[in-house]
Amino acid sequence: MGEAQARGHRATRPARAALVVAIDGPGAAGKTTVGTEVARRLGYAFLDTGNLYRALAWLAIRHGVPPTDEEGLARLARQARMRLVPPAAGSPGPGTILVDGEDVTPHLRRPEVEAIVSQVSRVPAVRAALLDLQRRLAREGGIVMAGRDIGTVVLPDADLKVYLDASPQERARRRYLELQGQGREVTLEQVARELAQRDQTDSQREAAPLRPAEDAVIVHTDGLTLAQVVARVMELVQARLA
Ligand code: DC
Repeated sequence: MGEAQARGHRATRPARAALVVAIDGPGAAGKTTVGTEVARRLGYAFLDTGNLYRALAWLAIRHGVPPTDEEGLARLARQARMRLVPPAAGSPGPGTILVDGEDVTPHLRRPEVEAIVSQVSRVPAVRAALLDLQRRLAREGGIVMAGRDIGTVVLPDADLKVYLDASPQERARRRYLELQGQGREVTLEQVARELAQRDQTDSQREAAPLRPAEDAVIVHTDGLTLAQVVARVMELVQARLA
């Protein structure tokens, strides 16, 4: 089991029936897979906030707004009406994202979106425009939200903050297998290079950089199976519910 640090355990707030769980960490650390399964077990909603930035990147491509045009991106972010539609009861997956009524979910993993999403997400006005939506979704509790800045910026009062981590090699291996499974022709070196670039942009940007919150529990997942990581997060959840 990877080392976990529990700091600042929330002793002052009474246990709630429907928690807000934040899962942050670098790309391909397993946030979506783990978050989806934890949410399923708890009967909570799951939101992968990376998809909001991806939806915006897709919109920028469609509208011919280059990723260097910060004002143009900010305008798009403010104008786009994003809505999340949860999956039908009993069906897996994170649901769909509608932008101005259109389902953009099939476009979110396209290579051209991958290529610019980090650049789009580093624009402060873009982040500010998406903040309200993310906070509204968590207001009622009963949600697992995954991203880069959920514990630090979006939901600083989350009941549980998990920072999922893994070595760059392990993350590259996981992402490579995932892409291969989708029939994408990539090499391990290519995947590792792209992940390293993304890590750098995400952690060195000025607005809401990737880092663990002070009171996050850090879970290193190298050498752990998915089931073990889920079990560890569920333990943490149960401790907050007790
Ligand atoms: O997790 P992902 O690969 O789908 O995220 C896509 C990009 O969006 C990634 O470069 C980091 C950024 N992102 C972010 O800045 N803040 C979040 N809460 C989630 C994702």
